[in-house]
Amino acid sequence: MIVETLSVFPDMFESPMSLSIMGRARKKGILDFCAYDLRNWTHDRHRTTDDEPYGGGQGLLMTCPPIFEAIDDITSEGPKPTIIFFAPAGEVFDEAVATELSTCERLLMVCGRYEGIDERAFTLADRVLSLGDYVLTGGELPAMIVTDAVVRLLPGVLGDEGSAVEESFSEGLLEFPQYTRPATYRGMEVPPVLLSGDHGAVAAWRRRAAIEKTAKLRPDLIESAPLTDEERAFARTFMEE
Ligand SMILES: C[S@@+](CC[C@H](N)C(=O)[O-])C[C@H]1O[C@@H](n2cnc3c(N)ncnc32)[C@H](O)[C@@H]1O
Repeated sequence: MIVETLSVFPDMFESPMSLSIMGRARKKGILDFCAYDLRNWTHDRHRTTDDEPYGGGQGLLMTCPPIFEAIDDITSEGPKPTIIFFAPAGEVFDEAVATELSTCERLLMVCGRYEGIDERAFTLADRVLSLGDYVLTGGELPAMIVTDAVVRLLPGVLGDEGSAVEESFSEGLLEFPQYTRPATYRGMEVPPVLLSGDHGAVAAWRRRAAIEKTAKLRPDLIESAPLTDEERAFARTFMEE
């Protein structure tokens, strides 16, 4: 997958996109990442990308010309990218969106700064994504988060191919509780079934534990989760508490 970002702070991507799993995905050739500097498409001495908002108000807005020119240039070659903008007003980014985006051949993410971006630039976007109901100082962190969540879903990126399948949200539920050595720590025991070596019993315990955890912590997920009638009744016992 090709992932590109357009930003006034391209250096911010250096470590997150070079270390650990993202770095390995690049070395394996699964991820082809490039952070473009929006200032390369400015024409003045100060390499200006922002200006005062019409009608007055606080702060500065990112202007249209460098964004349009950069996208014209970047998209003039290669496969047509899915163009993503970020804004608190966008569609909330979640695992379902990450899964959809993981089927794209190329993503181009435009990172806002200052008070945001001239509204006309949003006509370039295929999707506008929000990370949640809070305001960040820029779109670089959202772009890193989207890249991380999407790329880890690509075949060959995680060491164990099952890892992404069993995780929270992948089956409409939160992940079951996990434990590692020691079996007893400060008086706290690991559930005995996990030490039994009985794979069927472990799988059954994990399924019920995931339903219980989801019902207690995120009851909103239970309605759309693919559960049997018996599992749904089990979930309700925790939601009515
Ligand atoms: C300070 S914010 C602009 C906020 C804008 N004035 C508003 O009130 O909606 C600057 C940039 O950060 C990014 N950003 C901030 N909060 C975000 C969020 N919750 N989700 C996604 N991107 C966000 C966007 O790229 C945005 O253009």
